[in-house]
Amino acid sequence: MLKKLTLSAVAALSLTAGGAMAAGGAGHVNDVDFSFEGPFGKFDENQLQRGLKVYTEVCAACHGLQYVPFRTLSDEGGPHFSEAQVRAYAAENFEVFDAELDDTRPAKPADFFPGSALENAPDLSLMAKARAGFHGPQGTGLNQLFKGMGGPEYITSLLSGYTGKEKTQAGTTLYENTAFPGGWISMGPPLEDGLVDFDDGHANDLHHMAEDVSAFLMWTAEPKMMARKQAGFTGVFILFILTVLLYMTNKKLWAPHKGKKYV
Ligand code: HEC
Repeated sequence: MLKKLTLSAVAALSLTAGGAMAAGGAGHVNDVDFSFEGPFGKFDENQLQRGLKVYTEVCAACHGLQYVPFRTLSDEGGPHFSEAQVRAYAAENFEVFDAELDDTRPAKPADFFPGSALENAPDLSLMAKARAGFHGPQGTGLNQLFKGMGGPEYITSLLSGYTGKEKTQAGTTLYENTAFPGGWISMGPPLEDGLVDFDDGHANDLHHMAEDVSAFLMWTAEPKMMARKQAGFTGVFILFILTVLLYMTNKKLWAPHKGKKYV
């Protein structure tokens, strides 16, 4: 029975691998050590703020973040801007349609980021989780388990994986990309060295910006990650105390009977 199960598991795995190969390879993803990995990992506020800037100045031209409310930008554990900064950011950068006014107005903290401006550019709110297992054989989750590799690594590798080759297929320009499954993506390389300037003069070469915006997209996809980790720890701690108490109670209850001989 076990042998049969193993055999069918192997068959299933090789089928998935075969399928991905047939589609032109699964794409190559590099490991990145993000601050939020591991049981004690935390989002790096400054990195999230830089990532938001890259998103706003570059990606927002095409991609939306329609599930993210502006007000969460001031959350602790997120970019953690002041409320005044969030109000200014929303109003300066985005317009939303207000049904009551029957017109557009500058965005307020209670509004959500707009959806994608370009029809075939997917919304990025949940992208980092949607691509967590990448595609194809890496989807077994092993790299995720052992190296903490997931969606943010995929996005970083995608943004820095352009080879510079292009081709036109059925009227669409495709760009060769080593991370994208199939090898050719219709998104042109969005980042280049020095494209975005950071107020604190932080490194703005392509790779740093790719990591920053990927970290930011991990936060949009899982804004409560830190609260979740903390709740997990509290749970484990309480269980530990309970175990100790139960052990002591058990000892005490049975103490009078230990060592007695019932003849
Ligand atoms: C000029 C428009 C444009 C800009 C700017 C742009 N993208 Fe894209 N992006 C696209 C399009 C179009 C696709 C769909 C590509 C496809 O499926 O071939 C896409 C796809 C993606 C995907 C999904 C890839 C997948 O696995 O399906 C990610 C992630 C992504 N973009 C991230 C970004 C980030 C991050 C930025 C900013 C640094 C950005 N994009 C800037 C047009 C754009």
